[in-house]
Amino acid sequence: MWHCLEAARFSRNEISELFSQARLYRERLKRGETLSELKGKTVATLFFENSTRTRLSFETAARRLGGASLGVAVAQSSVQKGETLSDTARNIVALGVDALVVRHASAGSPAYLAERVGLPVINAGDGFHEHPTQALLDAFTMTERLGDLNGRRVVILGDIAHSRVARSNISLLHRLGAKVVVCGPTTLLPPRPETLGVEVGCFPEEVLRGADVVMPLRMQQERHQGLQVPSLAEYARFWGLTSARVALLPEHAVILHPGPINRGVEIDSDVADSPRSLILDQVANGVLIRMAVLARALRHTEGANA
Ligand code: CP
Repeated sequence: MWHCLEAARFSRNEISELFSQARLYRERLKRGETLSELKGKTVATLFFENSTRTRLSFETAARRLGGASLGVAVAQSSVQKGETLSDTARNIVALGVDALVVRHASAGSPAYLAERVGLPVINAGDGFHEHPTQALLDAFTMTERLGDLNGRRVVILGDIAHSRVARSNISLLHRLGAKVVVCGPTTLLPPRPETLGVEVGCFPEEVLRGADVVMPLRMQQERHQGLQVPSLAEYARFWGLTSARVALLPEHAVILHPGPINRGVEIDSDVADSPRSLILDQVANGVLIRMAVLARALRHTEGANA
């Protein structure tokens, strides 16, 4: 059984195979081919937290591969009547689905289900912990623009402490040989960030010169306990990615953001909408990467059942 739970579990070879598969799908779709790798398969998306990109991306990916998707509306489900996570998942599996894509506020929930449901489980974001397919699509987007990431310098800017995207990106980028720099107010950095193998900066002005990629992150206010910065305006003033700060970057450097963006807070509109911004490329690449992930997960199941 192949689960997709943590970026740290991917080998370099596995990442490279997923990227090659994503490129192949892009070519085949461009040629107008009808894909059928998931024909007869159903992928359930079970999201206990809000999502636009990730849920729609997995559902699109399943359909582009000739499969079906089943979106579970958690707010209208029997979770509201006290059904447990495990019972909810096992009942969805009993409906006859072939893979579960799970987002949950509690770290470790997808791994917990992976041990219980007998199906491939894909982590679509669990609390502060991990968002592995986001890291795959981010690294894929960087690679498509910059080539091999070995030795490249990626600055992750802002709310690192509460970000599963930062955690997954740090693991995956290290695996690909990139150097990661984290930068933000000390209240938004994890305790002892150097133990993650990253360089640490306090202000963007210290770290943007020499960066190949800068990735500002949204303030994860839904995970904050109390005030982390004096105000959003203060945060924007000292850490927001403005055009003046972008001017410090080398000419080839690109801007990524996992979304959703808060314009005027962590990123200004003229930066988000500039030609250097790959934000919508990330979304388009996300579908290709998730096609590759779903195909791999379900191919492994077939092998196990053969
Ligand atoms: N990047 C990301 O996870 O976006 P959503 O929350 O919209 O899925």
